[in-house]
Amino acid sequence: MANYDVIIIGSGPGGYVSAIRCAQLGLKTAIVEGRETLGGTCLNVGCIPSKALLHASHMLHEAEHNFAAMGLKGKTQSVDWKQMLSYKSDTIGTNTKGVEFLMKKNKIDWLKGWGSIPAAGKVKVGDDVHETKNIIIASGSEVSSLPGVEIDEKVVVSSTGALELSKVPNKMVVIGAGVIGLELGSVYSRLGAEVEVIEFADTVTPGMDAEVQRTFQKLLTKQGLSFTMGAAVQSVEVKGKKATVTYKSRKDDSESTVEADTVLVATGRRPYTDGLGLEALGVEMSERGQIKTDGHYKTNIDGIYAIGDCIDGPMLAHKAEDEGMACAEGLAGQKPHVNYDVIPGVIYTHPEVANVGKTEEQLKSEGRDYKVGKFSFMGNGRAKANFAADGFVKIIADKATDRILGAHIIGPAAGDLIHEICVAMEFGAAAEDLARTCHAHPTYSEAVREAALACGDGAIHA
Ligand code: NAI
Repeated sequence: MANYDVIIIGSGPGGYVSAIRCAQLGLKTAIVEGRETLGGTCLNVGCIPSKALLHASHMLHEAEHNFAAMGLKGKTQSVDWKQMLSYKSDTIGTNTKGVEFLMKKNKIDWLKGWGSIPAAGKVKVGDDVHETKNIIIASGSEVSSLPGVEIDEKVVVSSTGALELSKVPNKMVVIGAGVIGLELGSVYSRLGAEVEVIEFADTVTPGMDAEVQRTFQKLLTKQGLSFTMGAAVQSVEVKGKKATVTYKSRKDDSESTVEADTVLVATGRRPYTDGLGLEALGVEMSERGQIKTDGHYKTNIDGIYAIGDCIDGPMLAHKAEDEGMACAEGLAGQKPHVNYDVIPGVIYTHPEVANVGKTEEQLKSEGRDYKVGKFSFMGNGRAKANFAADGFVKIIADKATDRILGAHIIGPAAGDLIHEICVAMEFGAAAEDLARTCHAHPTYSEAVREAALACGDGAIHA
């Protein structure tokens, strides 16, 4: 079979980006993918389709809540679910075809089928064994199961089934107030379902800035979602088309039940490495099932590398992309570096939530001296004009040096606004550097500058 410099297993954002970088750097590259289309979980059943449904349902929300006030009157909007699903499928299609085009453009061979590694330097796809100098495993993650809960993808669904429901349910129970639970819970709440979120912890999105968590839960509650906090789901029983969810209060151990038409299990994901043959090869794994790698993404076996969700770190498409590029550059003899202190996280609800760097809670536990500059979107003219003034920008800077240590935004376009702070952090900027940068008026970005000003002598519009 053909000889390659690199064969990448998995065509998600980690794998396909890595493949393009390898090809750009002159390495003869192939990518292995068993799905019908390229793009992995993110493009096929994750980030992209969920964003299409979030966008469509947000438009409905705008039409129902804000159009009349803006003087837009006329036909009442209603949901054509079949059409919405086909819009979602079209969105997936254009994106996955785009990746296929990029593979061809960069002369990357797509080896169709599920790959395994019979030995270092060999990748088996179907009956063919391909020789390669290097292998990059980018096999991603899968939904982690919850004891007592069987996912049938009809009544009890994972994020995958939640993108293909036969109809909008009357009542949906979401298990887990993490990223997936709140994004998809928002979609169905906006489309008319009664959505109840059951969360083990006492706060939504555990690990996030506490002030953001409180504001986020308050805003989602205002939008109609209900929350049962501090409750561990024990089991889900399905009878016909209905499910009964049993959960236990962590406070007093009391058990309660709730009925639903659809139950979304959103309690986390785990690395997906099934069928690769890693155990037989002796590839070292962590207790959590992640492939162990060194600082250059190399496993304990020469010539075998791993990136993305199947290794340590946050399970985020953009983290996988960065690792994919860095791994490729390393193979080509460069000295790449991924700055794990500056990886943004975004939740695409409305308002959006975005963060980068440290939270106040982390800094307190580290005993660091810091200051906080906060600015509410209520003081931002553009946000007020757009009925999007809920939320704030919070910048945390070192008390002595003014260097930015983290930022937490809840508000309009938070997922885009966060990036100017990421760039500032990459350059080791002080809050004053942001505050002295001219920001166009009227933009949401002015709220970022105001928060930076609030780290110093004060925001102007507060
Ligand atoms: P998650 O880890 O974000 O949240 C899971 C939640 O479930 C936690 O709050 C946990 O306390 C709760 N939980 C666990 N067991 C429970 C039980 N028995 N009863 C009640 N609550 C329970 O996991 P999620 O939302 O499934 O996301 C998986 C991964 O995918 C994450 O790493 C996330 O970062 C990533 N992702 C990122 C997106 C983004 O960046 N916008 C979108 C979708 C997924």
